Parts: sequence; structure tokens; C-alpha cells
Amino acid sequence: MRRIIYQSTASAGMDRAELFRLVYHARVANDRKGLSGFLLFVDQRFLQVLEGEAWTLMATFDQIRRDVRHCDVKVIDERSIPAAKFAAWRMHCFAEQEVAGALEKMTIAASGPVPDYVTEAVQAFFSDDCVKADRLLLHPE
Ligand SMILES: Cc1cc2nc3c(=O)[nH]c(=O)nc-3n(C[C@H](O)[C@H](O)[C@H](O)COP(=O)(O)O)c2cc1C
Repeated sequence: MRRIIYQSTASAGMDRAELFRLVYHARVANDRKGLSGFLLFVDQRFLQVLEGEAWTLMATFDQIRRDVRHCDVKVIDERSIPAAKFAAWRMHCFAEQEVAGALEKMTIAASGPVPDYVTEAVQAFFSDDCVKADRLLLHPE
């Protein structure tokens, strides 16, 4: 199993209706492909955590990276994992502005503590702390 975390900037025209369409299709596709994770959408920026079988994950991320609905795709972390942590979520979407609510729901979905590097990536995303995100990439746990 493998997990990738990236952030990106939404293209013009990404509103709630467009986001709904994107998430709906991602859920159906992820269900078929056995992928799980979540998507944060705040201030026209995305942070996605996507996990699953390595080849399936890489093939999907390759499509995501080339998707014109976003740009500036930047990988924050990528690593092998023993098991999917967010298997309950085919693609949960958070469009809320507040970090605590998101982290609380993540802990419930993961049925236990969320790995530190995931929490830190989410916190860095909310605080727009790109320096911290870079540090995570250079020094994975
Ligand atoms: C921010 C963002 C997140 C996405 N997340 C997923 C995802 O989790 N799973 C997925 O299959 N496609 C996702 N997509 C869509 C893919 O880029 C692509 O449209 C899709 O994989 C095509 O699938 P299809 O060939 O089965 O139609 C996402 C796109 C964007 C812009």
C-alpha cells in the first residue's frame, strides 16, 4: 500500500457545483479502484491524501496531475504504508475553514490517531505554511 499527499491550486471556474461533480466522480472511481482518502478545498486550494495499492495509486495520480481543473500540483509526501488509514472514505471532501473540525473527523474515520505527518500536512495547508510542508518532504518520519 502507498499514500501520497499533494496540494494544488484550483483552476478558474472551480465552484461548489464543480467541486461536487469532481468529488462524486472520484468516489465512484475510487470505489472501483480500491482507493481511499480525503480532499480539502480551502481558498481555491486543494490538499489531497490518497492511498491504495501502489500501481493503482500511481496511475490515478498521474491522471490527477494532468487534470486541467487544477495547477501547481506539488507533492508534499509519498511513502509506503502498512495499511490504508482512511479506508472508510472513498474521497471525503472537507470544504470547511477550520482545522480542528477536519482533524477531529479524520481521527474518527481513521478509528485512532492520524499519523503525525498527515496532521502536520493538514495544519501546514491551513496555515499556508509552505516552508513547513517542504521540511516534511525533506525529513519524513
Ligand atoms: C483535485 C482533484 C482530485 C481528484 N481526485 C481523484 C480521485 O481521488 N480519484 C480519481 O479517480 N480521480 C480523481 N480526480 C480526477 C482525475 O484527475 C481524472 O479526471 C480521473 O481519474 C479520470 O477517471 P476516468 O478515466 O475513470 O474517468 C481528481 C481531480 C482533481 C482536480
